[in-house]
Amino acid sequence: MPAYAILGAQWGDEGKGKVVDFLARRADIVARFAGGNNAGHTVINDQGHFSLHQVPSGIFWPQTLSVMGSGVVVNPDPLLEEIESLKERGIDVDGRLLVSQRAHMIMPYHVAIDQLSEAAKGNKAIGTTGRGIGPAYADKASRNGLRMADLLDLKTLEPRLAEALEHANALITKVYGGGPLAFKTVLAQCREWSERIGPYIGPVEHELHEKLNQGGVVVLEGAQGALLDLDHGTYPFVTSSNPTIGGACVGLGLHPSQITGVIGVFKAYCTRVGAGPFPTELTGDTGERIRQLAQEFGTTTGRARRVGWFDAVMARYSGRLNGYTSNVLTRLDVLDSFDSIKVCTAYELDGEIINEPPGGEAALERCKPIYEEHSGWDKPTASATEYDQLPPQAVSYVSRLQELIGSPIDIISTGPRREEAITVRPIV
Ligand code: GDP
Ligand code: IMO
Ligand code: MG
Repeated sequence: MPAYAILGAQWGDEGKGKVVDFLARRADIVARFAGGNNAGHTVINDQGHFSLHQVPSGIFWPQTLSVMGSGVVVNPDPLLEEIESLKERGIDVDGRLLVSQRAHMIMPYHVAIDQLSEAAKGNKAIGTTGRGIGPAYADKASRNGLRMADLLDLKTLEPRLAEALEHANALITKVYGGGPLAFKTVLAQCREWSERIGPYIGPVEHELHEKLNQGGVVVLEGAQGALLDLDHGTYPFVTSSNPTIGGACVGLGLHPSQITGVIGVFKAYCTRVGAGPFPTELTGDTGERIRQLAQEFGTTTGRARRVGWFDAVMARYSGRLNGYTSNVLTRLDVLDSFDSIKVCTAYELDGEIINEPPGGEAALERCKPIYEEHSGWDKPTASATEYDQLPPQAVSYVSRLQELIGSPIDIISTGPRREEAITVRPIV
């Protein structure tokens, strides 16, 4: 009963969408387990160029059921738009997408509170995607949340919505000075969702267990990345869920022994969107060159991504959190035109050399990267599909990253398209 988790190993946008689409060839189920439409997963294959925010990236393989587990927060309007847009482009979704009854909903007031709270923080803002993620998970934790199951039972939903909205409106008006949301309008939205999204709500956890018991292949699609983890990331500049392996178990009702493979997706350098410590950040010309070459602009918000050299301190830490059995290295091709490439192997903090990130925000801000330098390669790696097509300097860069991460790099992605990848060792 193999389940393979494909996890963001840095600060998100590592190329998980591409990797899931590439590896889902044999999957019976592809399951999202955390996050919501803060995610933006790009898939480019023969069917087109897609940006997925909520629908799992396995939707392009006809044999695959796509599911969203209890750990996901679902915003029904954009989900319906995503479904419609996939259908218009010839992708069959009906009967192939299932949303857990236990998944919480992102309500319109969550989006409002997220945006108002960010505005109120001024230059201390987290730089969230403004999609209501934090407030939705906060309501889940404080037990004021509304779940997909409630859409199937509007009689129960109505009084609970009234109570939740009263709280939300008090926050919106009294703390942030915003305008209240009308109960009637939100209830009407819920009625519409009940009708339109109802058919997609189902027993996700049951389907997963059945499939695994039958020996089926399940791919767990991570969103965000280990360094954005609510518990283990660069708090408070994190998301509000656990994109690490524990989140996969909790967010799908799986137990750890059902997960056979934990696959880390690493970019050959680093990016981060939003605020927060980023020790290897390149703020000058080199950073701008990578940003332009790689078109590092957010899939969800269009914001320019911050860019930096590969950070092996963070990579080891991410490996410790997730226990990678395999890794995928993406965007190697972006470094094709560089004469020299740096890798951070340790930090200097207040005169001391350290090998793991400190837990405190201010201390992490003070960490200075210690770099080793690698020579670039004279022949492009872009679109390579065989290991022996890689120039020796690229091979040595990949080998060094593998050594630093501490677990094997089994796939090297050399372009955004599905087929642009080198499989060193098959993993799914
Ligand atoms: P995700 O959130 O982890 O799914 O990643 P995003 O889709 O937000 O961002 C990754 C970007 O890198 C997308 O534009 C992908 O099309 C692109 N991409 C993925 N793998 C590669 C690769 O190996 N080379 C290049 N050049 N682009 C890639
Ligand atoms: P994928 O799945 C990159 C970042 C935001 C912000 C912080 C909190 O595409 O890799 P949130 O809206 O979640 O409350 O924002 O987390 N963030 C991401 N950064 N990729 C993502 O998803 C992200 N999802 C959230 O930029 O810094
Ligand atoms: Mg993304």
